[in-house]
Amino acid sequence: MSKITIAIDGYSSTGKSTVAKQLAKHLGYVYVDSGAMYRAVTYFAMEHGLIDENHFDVEGLLDKLSEIKVSFKFNAALGFAEVYLNGVNIEKEIRTLEVSRFVSQVATVPQVRAQLVQHQKQMGAEKGVVMDGRDIGTVVFPDAELKLFMTASAETRALRRYSELLERGDDVSFEAVLKNVEERDYIDSHRKDSPLIKAKDAIEIDNSNLSLEEQFDEIKKLVNKVLHA
Ligand code: CDP
Repeated sequence: MSKITIAIDGYSSTGKSTVAKQLAKHLGYVYVDSGAMYRAVTYFAMEHGLIDENHFDVEGLLDKLSEIKVSFKFNAALGFAEVYLNGVNIEKEIRTLEVSRFVSQVATVPQVRAQLVQHQKQMGAEKGVVMDGRDIGTVVFPDAELKLFMTASAETRALRRYSELLERGDDVSFEAVLKNVEERDYIDSHRKDSPLIKAKDAIEIDNSNLSLEEQFDEIKKLVNKVLHA
């Protein structure tokens, strides 16, 4: 059976990566976390003193953009590909609330987007890919055979992310996580270049009241419909 492309977009912490990983495993496809790529560039900017609470040196970042190489390496023990920045595994470093606080600003920069989108298109050129993000169905793979758009209430999403961060041992408050989720929703949906919007042909899934199992079953049905059409 020929392989398809699955694009999963949606607001922050809607469980996109969870379902994308489940689907990739189920289908034997490659999973690409495009958000990890924006987080990697943000981490680079933070490490080079190019962004903090008070300033964002966009020109400085653009000067260094050609030095930034983001890659993925499959970790069999974890069952998914971890992200590397210039050959160094930064999977853990990019998931902090600190990186989340700056990533949406970095993701507004058109040159950053152009570089990452080109890489994302290459990774999906052979199909057989599940990619999640904000502009996958609209910009990266506008011809994807299946497009999903995930939503859930801001409180539900913040609670999920808060639990994840606590589990990692991070010292964060629920209020700070909720604020970050709402701020990123706003910036991601209002930026000029490739804003987060539902593609016309995307299927919306509100998972506020769905268990992981129910959600996966529902999405598997959608995949099967496309594969057997
Ligand atoms: O996992 P979470 O929902 O927190 O977000 P993510 O997928 O890791 O993405 C982090 C941020 O990267 C988003 O808030 C967007 O600002 C940006 N992003 C983007 O602009 N385009 C994408 N395709 C993926 C992420």
